[in-house]
Amino acid sequence: MTEAENRPNVARMYDYYLGGCHNFAADRAAAEEVLKISRTPASPRRATARSCAGSCAGRPSRALLPTDGRTVVLQGDLRRPGELLADPALRATIDLSEPVAVLLLAVLHFVPDADDPYAAVAKLRDATVPGSVLALSHLTLDGLPTLPTEQGTAIYRRSSSPLVPRSRDEVARFLDGYELVDPGLVKVADWRPDGEPQAAVSHGYGGVGVRR
Ligand SMILES: C[S@@+](CC[C@H](N)C(=O)[O-])C[C@H]1O[C@@H](n2cnc3c(N)ncnc32)[C@H](O)[C@@H]1O
Repeated sequence: MTEAENRPNVARMYDYYLGGCHNFAADRAAAEEVLKISRTPASPRRATARSCAGSCAGRPSRALLPTDGRTVVLQGDLRRPGELLADPALRATIDLSEPVAVLLLAVLHFVPDADDPYAAVAKLRDATVPGSVLALSHLTLDGLPTLPTEQGTAIYRRSSSPLVPRSRDEVARFLDGYELVDPGLVKVADWRPDGEPQAAVSHGYGGVGVRR
């Protein structure tokens, strides 16, 4: 076991929640601790992701995706959006002079304020044209009981990417420059529910905006 494999990794924990096989013992143990506190860490987010398109960052996506020239997988860091935007593979696949959709689902809460996630999202926004869409979901502690949420965030503090829950106002700032579509920025379980059984407790906000 390498040191990296012994430390819970948030992407591999998420893989475990979704029933995947790309995870190690340390990931499974940490994920099981989270599941004891909340049985539904991924399901509302997964529904949001499915309704948009899904995301494969940090997983062996190249092997899973079609090689039709219309899909590309880049490994990058949201904290350095300039590198992602300049990647020749992205430029060859996505025409940024046309409206595009940017999905930032369950990822911004892994970027602390010290790394200025607002600037990163603004850079992505500024690289797209009006009519482009930003869909995001983000962990919050708003309206949640203190003890289990503290226990949950404590587990993630041991992981590769500690969690940074944000308030509704703080999440709304990511959507500056976008016109929110109905029902606005709401708890993810309330964002156009698709009939799936909803979690009793919603751990995050979700919203979709169209760039002005
Ligand atoms: C909870 S998963 C969500 C995955 C996917 N967006 C979805 O909704 O199914 C969080 C993902 O954020 C990624 N992540 C964390 N910090 C990141 C960063 N600074 N840049 C890019 N990805 C990051 C992790 O690798 C992990 O794949």
